[in-house]
Amino acid sequence: MEVIPQSSTIGAEVRGLDLSGKLSDKLIEQVNQALLDYQVIFFRDQNLSAQRYNDFALRFGPLQDYMFADGIDGFPYITEIVKTESESESFGSFWHSDSAYLELPPKITMLYARQIPEQGGDTLFADMYAVYDALSPGMKAALAPLQAINSASVVPRDEDIYAAVKSKNSDKSEQFAIHPVIRRHDETGKKSVYVNGIHTLGFEDFTPEESLPLLTYLYQQVTRPEYSFRLRWQQDTLAMWDNRCTQHYALNDYHGHRRVMHRIIVEGGRPG
Ligand code: SIN
Repeated sequence: MEVIPQSSTIGAEVRGLDLSGKLSDKLIEQVNQALLDYQVIFFRDQNLSAQRYNDFALRFGPLQDYMFADGIDGFPYITEIVKTESESESFGSFWHSDSAYLELPPKITMLYARQIPEQGGDTLFADMYAVYDALSPGMKAALAPLQAINSASVVPRDEDIYAAVKSKNSDKSEQFAIHPVIRRHDETGKKSVYVNGIHTLGFEDFTPEESLPLLTYLYQQVTRPEYSFRLRWQQDTLAMWDNRCTQHYALNDYHGHRRVMHRIIVEGGRPG
């Protein structure tokens, strides 16, 4: 297996692995290490049935139900994300980390490209360790004790966006969880910023107005090109990202074309 970094801080292509084959525990450990080192990794030209895809994901931990969407037939943990030729909205087109409104947000998200437009439809990723590292000592100290309220209610529950997945539980948008603004990664021990513009309502014990200036500053850092990696999908690319230390943004720049992705999330622990 060969790991080819794609930028100075985030993203790597992993070559030389056929994920449909039997992968030893040692290889899975190496893949996990590449994920810990580069935060987003991708594999080109993978030929996986739903069963094989599910099996590969299971090597990283128990799979997690996505509370707002059903799985595909026979595979409750594989969610199909589709934007059709006639739709204008797309799923995940805002900077976020997945399901921050849960007590136990997923640690890993996988996306397997089943059909992609000829141009566009890339996904952007941001390195949230880099966002933390670049803060001043004063800002780090100010953020260290803060907890943030993360809610599912902020996600635009626009019919069109949720047409992209087999929607369920739309009445559960009151779901929320309180997590530290600065979280320490349970495997690498590194710190990252854990607030995002689509789930975070504000800091605990602060008014929304008091929270907003600091949050706005942090969200601006997320969009800095220096901390980002842009994944250009090809059909049959499988990507996985570490949801504990990244954010992502699905580019909605391919109107009139179809994009189909299969998504799996892997259970994570409580952010600490
Ligand atoms: C997501 O936000 O999980 C979807 C990302 C994408 O479709 O590129």
